[in-house]
Amino acid sequence: MLTFIKGLDAEETGILTRAMMLSGDTLSWPKEWEGKLVDKHSTGGVGDKVSLILAPALAACGMKVPMISGRGLGHTGGTLDKLESIPGYTVLLPSDRMQKIMEDVGCCICGQTANLVPADKILYAIRDVTGTVPSLPLVTASIISKKAAERVNALVLDVKVGNSAFYSQDEKLGREMATSLVRASSMLGTKATALMTRMDNPIGHCIGNTLEVAESIQCLRGKGPKDLRTLVEELGGCLIDSLQGTNTGKQQIANTLDDGRALAKFRDMIVAQGADEHLADRLCGLPMDDIDEVWQVLKKAENETQLLAERTGYISSMNSLEVAKVCLVLGAGRAVATADVDHSVGVKLLAHVGSHVKKGEPWVTIYHQSSDFNDGLADRLQATLEYSDSPLSVPDIVIGMVKPS
Ligand code: URA
Repeated sequence: MLTFIKGLDAEETGILTRAMMLSGDTLSWPKEWEGKLVDKHSTGGVGDKVSLILAPALAACGMKVPMISGRGLGHTGGTLDKLESIPGYTVLLPSDRMQKIMEDVGCCICGQTANLVPADKILYAIRDVTGTVPSLPLVTASIISKKAAERVNALVLDVKVGNSAFYSQDEKLGREMATSLVRASSMLGTKATALMTRMDNPIGHCIGNTLEVAESIQCLRGKGPKDLRTLVEELGGCLIDSLQGTNTGKQQIANTLDDGRALAKFRDMIVAQGADEHLADRLCGLPMDDIDEVWQVLKKAENETQLLAERTGYISSMNSLEVAKVCLVLGAGRAVATADVDHSVGVKLLAHVGSHVKKGEPWVTIYHQSSDFNDGLADRLQATLEYSDSPLSVPDIVIGMVKPS
């Protein structure tokens, strides 16, 4: 509580982070992987499926990616929940299995083992019930202790800034958070770079677990929404450049998306983590010109409903926090940590910020179970949109970068 009220300086934050990291196991890797071990962390967004694309893309660039991810809680979706839309995919990997997959494929995306930073589990539970979660030093120590325990050489942090961001709703708070994370990571010997990226509108067009897997495959096929691809290229590019001292990282990542190497790594990773080979081939073989192709392979919700634009104009903003909360009610996420997730539900946006829509035209498809969608939810979704009469330019998704000083 004292830390929450008074804060900690950078040195104190680093000391706390190190103590937390050392409270349990740390991972170790073969010597020959030195200089290639990388990971990414996002402070949590709506429709944020970047990890599903970035891990295989980095592996296709020759990196080793032991990505330990989390589950969704509240309005933010979880990478592990998204991947569990694929039948058979297991997120529980003992460390020898993790190492074998890293040897064979180059990347894995799994959950935290019981003894990785046990202090964080205890502290987080206490913070949760004492209202001390949004404390910059405590958030920093919690995030970086877990990433530092992976013993990677470089880390990229996606610090979300905007109305749907956890902690940093404005640029000043975003920069403070980015600086704090980068400093603590450097003190523990992991080279970190943070990108501050906009989190006002949903990322890409899909929100909901299976839908986000589908959109990830679309991006891995070199297709799909531009904002998602930009995030993947920028975050991956940063990592590669920070390790290799080059400025070709973005291009290297882009090439793996366009020539199918990243998709092949994704396919190999999901098979290595338990997906049936035949199913993985069918899923990754879909051309993905349309997201709905995914329902040929993965389970679809009972119903779909489209909402129509209430007026003609350009969409000037879409409140992603509210869209995410509606998805939570549909069952796509969990309001409490122990709840089950329905992988088949979610929303697909047919129009995005900057799009022109005509009154009566569909702008969103909702995939839901029979009884779960009602007029109240439809009204909430309609209210997420703001319209403008004139065209507008959509600002760049990357706002700034923080590097170690
Ligand atoms: N994510 C974490 O891992 N820890 C926090 O404290 C907040 C977000």
